Amino acid sequence: MDVIQPTTQPKRANPKSADSIDPDLLKWGNNLVTKFHVLMRISQIYDSKNVAIQQFVQESLETINTLIKREGSLSLKIVRNDFFLNEQRLRYSVEGFTSFKYLLTQWKKKLIGEVIFRSLVDEGILKNFVYTLMKLEEGREENADLFNEALANHHITTIVVNPLETVEGDEEAFTLQKEDQREVGKKVFFETIGTIKDVITQIKGKQHADVRKLKRLAQKAVHLVIEDESILLGMTTIKNYDEYTFNHSVNVSIYSLAMGKRLGFSKKTLTELGITGLFHDIGKSKIPIDVLNKPASLNEEEWGMMKKHPLMGVEIILNLKQLGEINPRMVIGIFDHHLKNDFSGYPKLFRKKEISLFGRIIQIADSYDAMTTPRIYKKVPYTPEQALAIMLRERTVHFDPVLLKIFIGLVGIYPIGSLVLLNTRETGIVYKPSHDPKWLDRPIVILVARDGKGEVKKEVADLTETDGGGRYKRSIVKTLDPFKYHIDIAKYFL
Ligand SMILES: [Fe+2]
Ligand SMILES: [Fe+2]
Repeated sequence: MDVIQPTTQPKRANPKSADSIDPDLLKWGNNLVTKFHVLMRISQIYDSKNVAIQQFVQESLETINTLIKREGSLSLKIVRNDFFLNEQRLRYSVEGFTSFKYLLTQWKKKLIGEVIFRSLVDEGILKNFVYTLMKLEEGREENADLFNEALANHHITTIVVNPLETVEGDEEAFTLQKEDQREVGKKVFFETIGTIKDVITQIKGKQHADVRKLKRLAQKAVHLVIEDESILLGMTTIKNYDEYTFNHSVNVSIYSLAMGKRLGFSKKTLTELGITGLFHDIGKSKIPIDVLNKPASLNEEEWGMMKKHPLMGVEIILNLKQLGEINPRMVIGIFDHHLKNDFSGYPKLFRKKEISLFGRIIQIADSYDAMTTPRIYKKVPYTPEQALAIMLRERTVHFDPVLLKIFIGLVGIYPIGSLVLLNTRETGIVYKPSHDPKWLDRPIVILVARDGKGEVKKEVADLTETDGGGRYKRSIVKTLDPFKYHIDIAKYFL
């Protein structure tokens, strides 16, 4: 296997390789997936002549035909667990997640792997396509042929479908334990981001904010973390630049929960901690967006505003009605999350008090996530390893040293999502910590290698594995910076 060489510049050989992204195509692609999702769903409720479906059909036609006009033709294809639109891999978005999931599952069940629209389509053709697709029996190998025949019988030659390709050795090579839990994890993660986004929008608009759903999601996250924390920890590698605030809140909540679990918190306390993590920066919803997203350093007045966000968060939380009885721990946690261990942070206190446990936990989770996420004023973030090193340097000043130790034990010396070079010259992504906590330096990694289409999943390797002579088969030599290597770490956790 080749070692991945750093590329200083995106490859140009294949114009639609993973490295060169056409953002318009991505946008239309996501739109297309959503449209197919809605069409497939409503075709199960209404027959093709029902007027209720007219509007959706028209909107879908617009998307499909715009793409065909722009690209000449349109191919939507499944490769493993991804959709490729004319050879460009589509990315999950928070809003689009349900549609992706639905389409992927439905097409896979029906063993349809690709749909090609060769030229512009009209209403009749599109309806025919959707209703024929939904009539296919699940698991039937001849489905693609039957589909093409059915279309031909209706004199439709503009659409061709191909069967699902199974990638050789894929199933055995990439054995995921607890696949179902991983699916639940994804759902909880994306739903929480969507819900916190709604709640913040409601608060900003001074509308009634419905936080019951958020509480339910926090409870689900608590269950997941208790069962297997590595699933949600893996999701924190998704660093969504555009959705920073929401993504950040969810990540802080996940790290805090994993720490709370190690501290032996009860489920009730964990749920409260999870919600506090989700709301820790809610006060920022009162700060103008141009101050939050300012690419340069803040002036004094802007800093003054920024420093008020813990207090403003407290105010907002106290005004939320349905959180049940709001435990003072949650309120104080939000107030405390920037105080810092030596009180050098904010807000400034007249009299020093003890910093609450929730506040100290969130302070650590918050700093780590902020440092490892690209921001408008720091486009290339710290690697997990660099962030931990900085935090260790600042321990006792900024953080509770005991809690920081627990945090490092949790993310490992090589945190989940780190890109590592092995002594076999293979490259790996840290997938989860070793089953045995004594092997902090021997996690489970996904070995990756780059082929013509960019990097691919190879296999999962447990670094505690030894050969016949008792020597380790693989060891980590050093960590690498995924930004330099143009590797999209998050996709390995989706
Ligand atoms: Fe904050
Ligand atoms: Fe924060």
